[in-house]
Amino acid sequence: MEGCSSATVLLPCILLFSVLLNCKVAAAGDIIGSNQILRDNGSTIVSSGAHFELGFVTVGSSANRYVGIWYKKIAEKTIVWIANREAPLNTSSNLLRLNSNGNLVILNASDDVVWSSNSTASVNNPVVQLLDSGNLVIRDESEKDNYLWQSFDNLGDTQLPGAKLGWNFETGLERYLTSWKSLDDPSPGQYTDHIDRNGFPQLMTRKGSAIASRAGPWNGIRFSGTPNLNPNKIYTYGIVSNDKELYYHYEAVNSSVYTRRVLNPFGQKQRWVWVENTQIWQVYHSGPIDDCDHYRVCGAYGSCNIDKSPVCTCFNGFQPKDKKGWDAADWSSGCARKENLSCVNGEGFVKHSGLKLPDTQRSWFDKNMSLGECEKVCLSNCSCTAYANTDVRGSGSGCLLWFNELIDIREEKENGQVLYIRMAASELAKKGRSKVWFVWIPILMTVTMMCVCLWVIRNKKRNKKKKQTEGITNPYFENGGSIEMGAEDLELPLFDFTTLANATNGFSKYSMLGEGGFGPVYKGMLDDGKEIAVKRLSKDSRQGLKEFKNEVSCIARLQHRNLVKLLGCSVQEGERILVYEYMPNKSLDSFIFDKMKGYTLDWPTRYNMINGIARGLLYLHQDSRLRIIHRDLKASNVLLDLEMNPKISDFGTARICGETETGSNTTRVVGTYGYMSPEYATDGIFSVKSDVYSFGVLVLETVNGKRNKNFAHLDHNLNLLGHAWRTYIDGNVLDLVDEVIEDLSPEHQYEVFRAIQIGLLCVQQYPADRPTMATVVLMLTSELPLPQPKQPGFFIERNVHEGDSSSCSSNYCSVTAIAPR
Ligand SMILES: *[C@@H]1O[C@H](CO)[C@@H](O)[C@H](O)[C@H]1NC(C)=O
Ligand SMILES: *[C@@H]1O[C@H](CO)[C@@H](O)[C@H](O)[C@H]1NC(C)=O
Ligand SMILES: *[C@@H]1O[C@H](CO)[C@@H](O)[C@H](O)[C@H]1NC(C)=O
Ligand SMILES: *[C@@H]1O[C@H](CO)[C@@H](O)[C@H](O)[C@H]1NC(C)=O
Ligand SMILES: *[C@@H]1O[C@H](CO)[C@@H](O)[C@H](O)[C@H]1NC(C)=O
Ligand SMILES: *[C@@H]1O[C@H](CO)[C@@H](O)[C@H](O)[C@H]1NC(C)=O
Ligand SMILES: *[C@@H]1O[C@H](CO)[C@@H](O)[C@H](O)[C@H]1NC(C)=O
Ligand SMILES: *[C@@H]1O[C@H](CO)[C@@H](O)[C@H](O)[C@H]1NC(C)=O
Repeated sequence: MEGCSSATVLLPCILLFSVLLNCKVAAAGDIIGSNQILRDNGSTIVSSGAHFELGFVTVGSSANRYVGIWYKKIAEKTIVWIANREAPLNTSSNLLRLNSNGNLVILNASDDVVWSSNSTASVNNPVVQLLDSGNLVIRDESEKDNYLWQSFDNLGDTQLPGAKLGWNFETGLERYLTSWKSLDDPSPGQYTDHIDRNGFPQLMTRKGSAIASRAGPWNGIRFSGTPNLNPNKIYTYGIVSNDKELYYHYEAVNSSVYTRRVLNPFGQKQRWVWVENTQIWQVYHSGPIDDCDHYRVCGAYGSCNIDKSPVCTCFNGFQPKDKKGWDAADWSSGCARKENLSCVNGEGFVKHSGLKLPDTQRSWFDKNMSLGECEKVCLSNCSCTAYANTDVRGSGSGCLLWFNELIDIREEKENGQVLYIRMAASELAKKGRSKVWFVWIPILMTVTMMCVCLWVIRNKKRNKKKKQTEGITNPYFENGGSIEMGAEDLELPLFDFTTLANATNGFSKYSMLGEGGFGPVYKGMLDDGKEIAVKRLSKDSRQGLKEFKNEVSCIARLQHRNLVKLLGCSVQEGERILVYEYMPNKSLDSFIFDKMKGYTLDWPTRYNMINGIARGLLYLHQDSRLRIIHRDLKASNVLLDLEMNPKISDFGTARICGETETGSNTTRVVGTYGYMSPEYATDGIFSVKSDVYSFGVLVLETVNGKRNKNFAHLDHNLNLLGHAWRTYIDGNVLDLVDEVIEDLSPEHQYEVFRAIQIGLLCVQQYPADRPTMATVVLMLTSELPLPQPKQPGFFIERNVHEGDSSSCSSNYCSVTAIAPR
């Protein structure tokens, strides 16, 4: 009886022939037959090679149920297709079966049809089959290759190998990707990814009906605006264009190596690859990558170059349409010709190389014409503005003409194409005049020399890199497991923004660990269970993307056991995010200023911390190539690993954020009262000696267990430094020691005495009097006699230190970011 789909058929069920007609048996294997059902009780069907599985699933954190397809062999459920994405089920007594006219239907608990495939062909003996490609098809049982309906015709957010993205001209069917609304909601989101066939076909992502980004036209090898990924060991790809069809597709090189192309809820197209060794999905390629990839940032006749500041420039012979807006970084109005075209004799073309071709929606093409013919055709039509080859293979072929303003162009040194832009006769004449030899010869010579230099440097780098990556575990990434984005060869991993958003629950305030001078820090967990700390930099950085990445990869190379490791960064979505290793024991301040936890820190542990911090700081100041001034050293920036070893965090953030470390004063005071040296707090002057001052404060706090700021004493209103100074000159420094530290041995008393004296030496008023970190380390580890300290700077708590907002007395301090903890 259990197999009966409805109580109303109970009676006929008694008769055997009726049983065969009306009662359904459970589906198995890779097929659901016309007399079978798939219940929402955990049953599934699995494709013949066990690559894909179909059944009822939930998505993300939502409780809704869907019929979906996922990878059978991957434990982390990775859904590649969903049938009822617009009609979620909220109970679990659902089922999936074929109905009488050969359509696949989903019925909810009250037997209402909530979703149906919409094939119109009728057939005698329909079956549903899940193929090993991940395609779900309805066909006649006897006709293997004639599909009446298939999931590959109704794509969701994922294009699997073998699926077509584009047009079937015979049926008028367009297959395109639609993003999910969010990671928890598979209903159609704002973004769609299409092959646009207005003019010369191009791949573009739309947000609603507006264009969000454009991969550009196919040039025979790739889309004009995408990096050249061929050849790779994971997939091959191409475009098929004939009378019947026009589509983009890709195929896996080895069907056991999974790869998928996804349009995510944020409008990014991501190529994922499953890495068997590490059991994680790795982003192989992703776009849009940067600001220049967003549609028409620079307006008409503007060209975007992410390495330049500002990123937009007008082509030669053009000028900003709206000079004011342009100067204020609003480039959307674009550029206009200095000399209008008039279609008189003498007009011609100027060649521009290294470009992503402009939007081709209003273009015309002929794949058989040569470039010479192309020029003639363009010249003869007054509304033609530019021409180019359609195909860049070999010496180039085909003709592509533009009839409108040229929009959405970017410069691409490595992969760019050649575009010929029509110019007025007078502009051409200007250009001709400037071609005087005495200008060109020196330029040519300089360029040649630079090229030779670059070539030599590059080769050196390459060789070095080859050596470094020998014996890597992951054979699919040429650059040793780093994620490749764009043409840069960065040595640090770029994290995917979505991954970080997921890891931190969408940067939720509950995941927040604290707020530093340059932005908040979140705790996150990656899909593989690894814990990370994620610092989301505030958006006011003026630094270019390239400098940013350079700085980050430099900083990431700093390695010392007393420094927190920088794991990588993310630059998507206009964000600048740093990813650090996560330190389970939190920061030093959570121990030394806490009476209960303070008990766990005996003197040797504290002394070990002081030594570790000193060595980490010495490395930053002197031993690392970069010579970094920390500028915000404080107890909350010293993190503790499981063995309570101190690790300095947040170093180099000033550099990463584009502030110079070499200068002596700064426009932006990043620091924390109580730790800032007098010259830095009042005049914005910083040097390694301001770090030494902060270190001195940290030493005294570690000994005493109280904050310098907010320090209170019954006998006087001095701060901690003043109090320490007083106990020092009164000769009873042991009074300064945290009362939770008991029974100091004579040997430890000697260490305490030295530590306090070194602390006082570090916080002296004048930078020149303070020792360098090299001297500090030497003093800590030897028994050299110590000099007498002079009175500390800021030894009386001053009223200006009330509150945490800045009250800098000098006009150097225009922006302040004070981070109390
Ligand atoms: C689901 O229900 C079907 C038919 O009622 C039954 O044959 C199957 O064993 C059930 N599956 C699970 C996983 O309980
Ligand atoms: C499930 O959805 C239906 C409408 O689709 C609604 O009437 C019902 O209240 C929902 N049930 C639950 C438990 O949310
Ligand atoms: C089944 O779907 C119908 C139509 O959408 C709806 O009215 C009904 O409430 C659903 N039943 C359940 C149990 O969700
Ligand atoms: C089937 O449904 C899709 C999407 O709902 C629609 O685009 C397509 O035209 C439909 N096909 C038929 C044959 O009705
Ligand atoms: C395909 O990949 C699998 C798993 O990585 C590997 O075992 C197999 O040898 C590969 N096959 C080919 C033909 O390269
Ligand atoms: C070019 O033409 C536009 C309108 O077609 C006009 O507004 C503009 O002033 C002209 N520019 C020059 C330099 O003649
Ligand atoms: C282009 O050239 C090919 C072969 O050279 C030829 O088959 C085709 O008909 C030509 N197409 C047009 C539109 O002339
Ligand atoms: C120029 O090209 C456009 C677009 O193809 C066309 O509409 C127009 O008729 C052409 N003009 C001439 C004079 O050929």
